[in-house]
Amino acid sequence: MRVGILGSGLMGGKLGTLFARAGHEVVFSYARSRKKLEGLARDAGGQARAGSPAEAARDADAVLLAVHWSRVDDVLKQAGDLSGKVLVTCSLPMNADDTELVVAHTSSGAEELARKARKAKVVAAFGTVPSEVLFGVFEARESEARPSLVYCGDDDGAKEVAVRLIRDVGFDPVDAGPLRIARYMEPFTMLVAQLAYEGDGGPELAYRFERFASPA
Ligand SMILES: NC(=O)c1ccc[n+]([C@@H]2O[C@H](COP(=O)([O-])OP(=O)(O)OC[C@H]3O[C@@H](n4cnc5c(N)ncnc54)[C@H](OP(=O)(O)O)[C@@H]3O)[C@@H](O)[C@H]2O)c1
Repeated sequence: MRVGILGSGLMGGKLGTLFARAGHEVVFSYARSRKKLEGLARDAGGQARAGSPAEAARDADAVLLAVHWSRVDDVLKQAGDLSGKVLVTCSLPMNADDTELVVAHTSSGAEELARKARKAKVVAAFGTVPSEVLFGVFEARESEARPSLVYCGDDDGAKEVAVRLIRDVGFDPVDAGPLRIARYMEPFTMLVAQLAYEGDGGPELAYRFERFASPA
């Protein structure tokens, strides 16, 4: 697939690298220096390159939004027309110092994004894990007990595209339902972040849902 990365920082840089290693054609965009984008593309190898947000979005089968909430309007403007595009977002609606969700309970960042990019097919995915765990999950992708990754969205076709990317990174995708479920996923991320950054075990943290049948 062709995957455009909008925001090539901790999340976009790592996810783009892993998508490229999984064989996708990746365009890294939206960092403050072109050199950084070129370095990411070089290190990712495969068919990765640096480009503008418009170039990343053009011809993309999936576009990953990975910017701070305060940069969403700017990057969308630079990306241009996203009509019909699968827009996978890991961006959380955080305040300036990343301490609080500024949208919650009655809406979510993903739903607000769908209002901003009206004709895009928004899927919320990848935002529930810290960037620090992504390479480790990829390394362990052949193992049986893959970590879970919840995702949600309103378009089934777009969700299938997201599932491919989720699997390629090494997670076991868990369909949480329609996009409005992002209003539960995003606060859940705050819990994961608390455990990752304030807990004793370090930030390389993922989660796994398991079902247990009750005895007959
Ligand atoms: N980090 C995590 O573990 C994590 C986990 C889950 C969800 N999230 C969410 O994912 C999103 C991305 O987080 P992140 O940690 O990847 O952020 P980040 O490392 O700060 O990356 C943001 C990207 O946007 C670029 N950018 C910022 N201002 C810009 C400007 N004025 N012009 C051009 N580019 C600009 C940055 O450029 P530079 O590269 O030049 O800095 C960087 O490439 C956020 O919404 C966050 O809440 C993050």
